[in-house]
Amino acid sequence: MQSFQLYERASTVPDKSYTRGDWQGGYQSLKQEFDYWIDDVEGQIPQELHGTLFRNGPGLLDVNGQPIHHPFDGDGMISRITFSNGRAHFRNRFIRTSAYLEEQKAGKILYRGVFGTQKPGGWQNNAFDFRLKNIANTNVIYWGGKLLALWEAADPHLLDAHTLETLGKEHFNGVLSESEAFAAHPRIDPSNPEDVGAPRLVNFSIKTGRSSTITIFELDFTGKVVRKHAHSVPGFCFIHDFAITPNYCIFFQNPVAFNPIPFVLGMRGAGECMKFQPNQPTSIVIIPRNPQQGKVQILKTHSGFVFHHANAFEEGDEIVVDSICYESLPEVEPQSDFRQVDFEALKPGQLWRFHLNLKDETVRRELLESRCCEFPHVHPSYVGRPYRYLYMGAAHSESGNAPLQAFLKVDLQSTERQIWSAAPRGFASEPVFVPRPGCEKEDDGWVVALVYDSTHHRSDVVILDANDFHQGAIARLHLKHHIPYGLHGSFNII
Ligand code: CO
Repeated sequence: MQSFQLYERASTVPDKSYTRGDWQGGYQSLKQEFDYWIDDVEGQIPQELHGTLFRNGPGLLDVNGQPIHHPFDGDGMISRITFSNGRAHFRNRFIRTSAYLEEQKAGKILYRGVFGTQKPGGWQNNAFDFRLKNIANTNVIYWGGKLLALWEAADPHLLDAHTLETLGKEHFNGVLSESEAFAAHPRIDPSNPEDVGAPRLVNFSIKTGRSSTITIFELDFTGKVVRKHAHSVPGFCFIHDFAITPNYCIFFQNPVAFNPIPFVLGMRGAGECMKFQPNQPTSIVIIPRNPQQGKVQILKTHSGFVFHHANAFEEGDEIVVDSICYESLPEVEPQSDFRQVDFEALKPGQLWRFHLNLKDETVRRELLESRCCEFPHVHPSYVGRPYRYLYMGAAHSESGNAPLQAFLKVDLQSTERQIWSAAPRGFASEPVFVPRPGCEKEDDGWVVALVYDSTHHRSDVVILDANDFHQGAIARLHLKHHIPYGLHGSFNII
């Protein structure tokens, strides 16, 4: 039996841990840009916590009152929370993408979104418009002295790390061409032997159609692209994330078919033209990081859908990959309203472990955690290595599908779980683990995350002791406003 620990304030949480009305409050636009010291703090910000949490996500859920169809189509907004000497400073800025500037000036939607946002005027006004709006809304990283906002279908935006001003596009000295894709899920290999043990950033891009090309990029610590290689794989690819080990990149090619005709004719967004194929297997594409060392292998496993991987590592003849898996990809319907989602009608994302045997070319899988969970994060020094602890956003309840309201710490070497829940009126996002300076134990540090507090319609920065969730939040920093539910971010010592 898994020994779940008690919730903080468990007695105050009703049977159903949330209301949809409360949850919807986190999907209102935040139009203002702020810059202030956070003075409304419960608890103590640890003196040793130094650095900056950057978050990215859709800041606008409408353009001048015209609603967008899906949060993934919302204009990217960066939040920056800087910790120093027991205090914290907040700043947020929209990324001045060319399309954001044009739409704000026009006061209306001028571009179709990948996930179904259409220009006003019906299909006639949308047909044959294939322009892609780079919304820069998925992740934000600091690498090689540069702050980059990422969106997987196009090139990164370069930002001033301090002011968050948009400086232009980043093409890594001509390695990327204008509008060339650079995925939103880079992985940082903490210690690369070719770089004398320095960290290295590994990322990819996908070009898809009837067959697909996966391109791998490796950037050294100075931000220079030191390796780039492309591989063709059969079939359509909808791949959002990948995992790395010291020697491999691992991709899950979800069984999804794409029919572009409704998109071409202006009736659906491209993302609404994907159909999950429940009778087709998932292809696991394993690409050696050094193309000189070995060939690409493709293994097959059960049908399912993966957005995010938690981590991977090598063990004998096997690669072990831990991933959040869904039974299928829920289709985005043109007439649907994402705010009206019926959580209970959907199946939860759950944590699975896959053992990929490179010698036998077999896949074995096991369920590690059945609780609804998303946004996995591990200690940065353990990326691609054997590891013990995993942090995730999770549902308050052990079973069923529900919005994320809690943070879950999974101990992979025992059955121990620790959970901190913001239910009934709080809603969780991606937790980021920050190691304590000079730490030796894998869970010696803090978990830092944004929580939307529907009672006050504002967001909190929550700091948990990663070693012990049970003592409750060690600090809860109340912002003066809410931040719409975001996607990904990173912590950096700047
Ligand atoms: Co993601």
